[in-house]
Amino acid sequence: MSVTPGPHRAPHPGLEARYGSTACPAADALNPFIEQLLSHRSVRAYLPDPVSEAELAAIIAAAQSAASSSNLNLWSVVAVRDADTRAQLAHCAGDQVHVREAPLQLVWLADLARLRHVAAQLGRPSAGLDYTELFLTAVIDAALAAQNAAAAAESLGLGTVYIGGMRNQPEQVATLLGLPSEAFAVFGMCVGRPDPTKPAAVKPRPAQSVVLHHERYCQDPLDAGVEAYNQAMARFYEAQQMKVHGTWDVHSAKRIAGPESLSGRDRLVEALHALGFKLK
Ligand SMILES: Cc1cc2nc3c(=O)[nH]c(=O)nc-3n(C[C@H](O)[C@H](O)[C@H](O)COP(=O)(O)O)c2cc1C
Repeated sequence: MSVTPGPHRAPHPGLEARYGSTACPAADALNPFIEQLLSHRSVRAYLPDPVSEAELAAIIAAAQSAASSSNLNLWSVVAVRDADTRAQLAHCAGDQVHVREAPLQLVWLADLARLRHVAAQLGRPSAGLDYTELFLTAVIDAALAAQNAAAAAESLGLGTVYIGGMRNQPEQVATLLGLPSEAFAVFGMCVGRPDPTKPAAVKPRPAQSVVLHHERYCQDPLDAGVEAYNQAMARFYEAQQMKVHGTWDVHSAKRIAGPESLSGRDRLVEALHALGFKLK
């Protein structure tokens, strides 16, 4: 089911940008906080101006305000300002220029090392940490904290972009950052002031009918929704003068075609074992 606007409702620019041409009935419930979230766009061009210590502290306070499974707080973050370390991280992440150029790189960790240590200090067993469940808990905690941080940074006028490329070479990243056994860089995050000469645009998302299921999962609207999204993304690429080969569905299918499409991350289980995770 595609959603059309009510007859008298004026189009909302934030929703229009988020959904391409597809309107959405959220307009009646918007507030400044949601509008801020709607305006998210990944930023890949930064000024060299540093992120202040106060800004960093505010971003981390927001991150720590995210929910945490059983309040275990199984995440950590390494704030990297040093230009040489940033360059090495950029190299590990597939030579992404923005990783080198952004003044601050936040590397978000799934961190079982801290609770392992806490239990050891108490002389208590910690074999639960050996299970995939606790690794996944740590990854979820890190992601929730990071997304709060990204929203907070954007509210301060800063730009961000997640860097999954940090998982291309997990052992090298761990060595660079001096991580203990059982700490893993889930992703990085560039933070800095967006370069106003290279502004980023809001990228459309699929219509809500593609992702929102009422009461039971239903794939009926999927094919039409994907086709509409292909067209919205084609208009976006054209407006941004981006040379993208193929429609969104083809482009996305190529990203999952096989192990060779995973930028070295097909060996992730092996890397996690090497980093001390047992993943039982
Ligand atoms: C976990 C995660 C990892 C990502 N890794 C990268 C990356 O390595 N390099 C990059 O330029 N963008 C990366 N991105 C950004 C996505 O490409 C971006 O969020 C997506 O294209 C949607 O665009 P938007 O954020 O502007 O809405 C990542 C995003 C997420 C959530």
